[in-house]
Amino acid sequence: MNIMHKACMKASKSLIRDFGEIEKLQVSSKGPGDFVSAADKRAEKIIIEELLKVNESYGILSEEVGAINKDNKNNRWIIDPIDGTLNFLNGIPQFAISIGYEEKGEIISGIIFDPIKDEMFFAEKGNGAFLNNSRIRVSNKKKLKDSLLVTGGPKFDNKSKETIFEEYIKISGITESSIRKFGSAALDIANVACGRFDGYWQWDLRYWDIAAGLIILKEAGGFVSFMQSEEEKSTKKNIIATNSNIHQELLGSFSKKLLSKINI
Ligand code: IPD
Ligand code: CA
Ligand code: CA
Repeated sequence: MNIMHKACMKASKSLIRDFGEIEKLQVSSKGPGDFVSAADKRAEKIIIEELLKVNESYGILSEEVGAINKDNKNNRWIIDPIDGTLNFLNGIPQFAISIGYEEKGEIISGIIFDPIKDEMFFAEKGNGAFLNNSRIRVSNKKKLKDSLLVTGGPKFDNKSKETIFEEYIKISGITESSIRKFGSAALDIANVACGRFDGYWQWDLRYWDIAAGLIILKEAGGFVSFMQSEEEKSTKKNIIATNSNIHQELLGSFSKKLLSKINI
């Protein structure tokens, strides 16, 4: 946990510097796309260097560089250097660094750091989940109707957009509070873990978007289901994550017909 913490803090300094610059860059003739990818890569490099310093043989799966030390199946870091790139790109302060740690394919610990709000979510298997120095728990809401949900997507090239919006309409006809969409999967899950949201669902995520969030939510008393075919398992993540209490009701609200149409 100390290692992840150190890597996060170091990378976040670079991110905050770049985030300050992006506001200026938006009015410059150079589009911010390159800059953002430079910010992504800078943060990623710092994180990977810090993590590998401790053990250079550990595996890495990171959004920009992909896999390093592929053969190490026992110990692996899963990294998203900026989750919420589009927010970052537009100067919206809702993004995070996400680092998960796996042993033999199981997520053991994770950290999600929002450098703007200075909120660090973290958890280790069996030791509970924390936000900065305080223990966190999922909410206690029992009914979907009373819940505040968050979702994200669909991506521009998603072939199931219609289905995804049909679902959105269906769910928004059940919850009395209107559904939120904040643009960072990692923070969306973290916010379910600390009880701000009662549930989250999204299709077409990648493992690095949610790896750290999975253990944080679990340790905070939440529950996660994945909806995908066997062959999609390693790449796509269609996730339903809740405070546990509303899980069955939310799951049951996605009609079988709609779920079978999901093709992303
Ligand atoms: C994205 C964010 C966003 C989600 C997208 C992801 P990125 O990650 O998590 O909330 O809707 O599907 O790709 O690209 O900002 O790291
Ligand atoms: Ca991401
Ligand atoms: Ca990213």
